[in-house]
Amino acid sequence: MQNRQLGRYWPRTPGCRRSLRHYDWRVHSPDLLIIGVATPYAWDVVESARRASRDFACIDNLGGADARLPSLALLDDSVDRSAPFTLGLASAASRRAAAHSVAGLGFRTPVALVDMTATIASTSEVGHGTYVNAGAVVASNTRIACHANINRSSSIGHDNMIGFAASISPGATLAGTVTVGAAASIGTGAVVLPGLTIGAGAFVGAGAVVTKSVPDWHVVVGNPARIIRVLEQDEGTLECPHC
Ligand SMILES: CC(C)(COP(=O)(O)OP(=O)(O)OC[C@H]1O[C@@H](n2cnc3c(N)ncnc32)[C@H](O)[C@@H]1OP(=O)(O)O)[C@@H](O)C(=O)NCCC(=O)NCCS
Repeated sequence: MQNRQLGRYWPRTPGCRRSLRHYDWRVHSPDLLIIGVATPYAWDVVESARRASRDFACIDNLGGADARLPSLALLDDSVDRSAPFTLGLASAASRRAAAHSVAGLGFRTPVALVDMTATIASTSEVGHGTYVNAGAVVASNTRIACHANINRSSSIGHDNMIGFAASISPGATLAGTVTVGAAASIGTGAVVLPGLTIGAGAFVGAGAVVTKSVPDWHVVVGNPARIIRVLEQDEGTLECPHC
């Protein structure tokens, strides 16, 4: 009974790849490819694409994607490398790696996807490949760079600068004039006070209240936020491969 009620969402035989093999590019010509769909976050991106009535396809570039994802196709030579794409991943590390990986595979047209329920000030900019999830609010004169992730119900203040592949988790709040470095992560529900800088690759823990700037590659937690460890620095790919 439960299976029948959930039928539309229920997986086919576990591991079955039937829907992948049957995706026919001669029939479909999607206007948006969602690449990197091996985590459940891909479903958020799918919902945003649906709300925007986009004709999208999910591209499984590494294998292991949820077979229930709509219009799911394995990455092979038939996929048009010039088609507009966005990433289906949440974390800064995975978005940064995926942006470079798909650039290497020849994908050259990243586009921003902004959920219809998000609010972006007319004076703010959202870079290519960046995803703005449901309910996020971006205040005036803020610049969000490429391939970043602005997650559900986060609040981005005025005059912020958010770097390449940075990830702002659900419900996080950045006050005005905050700078978030490339590939930095702001945890769920964290608060960053005005004028601070979160360094490249830094990680702000869930629920932290950040009262001082955080150096590159440092992890902070708590209220007030304190450094708990230093990450291994990895400066290799802190710039957008599509700029
Ligand atoms: C900050 C974070 C990355 C640290 O992870 P970690 O390096 O594996 O740290 P550990 O789990 O080993 O914890 C180290 C210490 O910090 C504490 N700690 C970890 N995260 C904390 C947090 N968010 N707030 C307060 N204390 C925290 C732990 O209790 C532990 O304390 P102890 O040494 O006294 O036991 C992680 O806890 C976190 O907050 N991630 C954010 C998750 C998130 O929001 N994801 C978004 C999903 S969309």
